[in-house]
Amino acid sequence: MAEFTLPANSIVRPNGKHNAAPNGARNTKRVRVYRYDPDSGETPSTDTYDVDMDDCGPMVLDVLIKIKNEIDPTVTFRRSCREGICGSCAMNIDGTNTLACTKAVADVDGELKIYPLPHMPVIKDLVPDLTHFYAQYESIKPWLQTEGPPPARERLQSPEERSKIDGLYECILCACCSTSCPSYWWNSDRYLGPAILLQAYRWIVDTRDEHTGERLDDLEDPFRLYRCHTIMNCAKVCPKGLNPAKAIAGIKKLLVERTL
Ligand code: SF4
Ligand code: SF4
Ligand code: FES
Repeated sequence: MAEFTLPANSIVRPNGKHNAAPNGARNTKRVRVYRYDPDSGETPSTDTYDVDMDDCGPMVLDVLIKIKNEIDPTVTFRRSCREGICGSCAMNIDGTNTLACTKAVADVDGELKIYPLPHMPVIKDLVPDLTHFYAQYESIKPWLQTEGPPPARERLQSPEERSKIDGLYECILCACCSTSCPSYWWNSDRYLGPAILLQAYRWIVDTRDEHTGERLDDLEDPFRLYRCHTIMNCAKVCPKGLNPAKAIAGIKKLLVERTL
């Protein structure tokens, strides 16, 4: 009989350190944070922090910054814009991938559980290793490709042509969708996943781009594109309200249409 073992460092010890609220705090929130330090030689754990919400901003990112600044400077996470634009604070909050800076603490009942994006290697604490994700992004050539010399002025589009990239250009590459996609969990070595396919579609439908045929050729592959089984987790979690599954369906439709 086959025996399966979990990879090293994948078992989470539930009870790490507890950090009590300061004396006199009357409105506290219990926050559980995934902790993993590759240099410690220990398996991951979850530490808990009782945070005084009367002295803290309303978003999950505010809580993490307060913990780092005032309670435990070793807690590690990415963030930059704090307004849902850079995509760097993507993490799993209360069981769902989302952005810490746009997720309100008040929307989470009970303990606030914060884990890194799932099914990605973890560099430290809440920081996933996105090297492969970005390499996949580079593979779809996410830039305008044209033939011949550039025009003297900008490449014009009608409002109607421009509207074709609505619902696509807004993607901030946070990876919330790809890391919620079961097909990407199991086949991320070869399947591009919803975020990268949405980006690929963004260039395919851009009327200024002249390499549409090559772009479609590159995606016509049983693994790169066709591992999407329309499970729709991607559309459910996207913090920007985008629908990667629809973009994937758009690519499949174009591939069929060009055979007719
Ligand atoms: S619709 Fe496709 S890309 Fe989106 S979660 Fe499902 S399998 Fe993944
Ligand atoms: S489609 Fe949405 S969830 Fe996916 S990477 Fe883009 S912004 Fe993030
Ligand atoms: S900090 Fe930029 S999206 Fe959250």
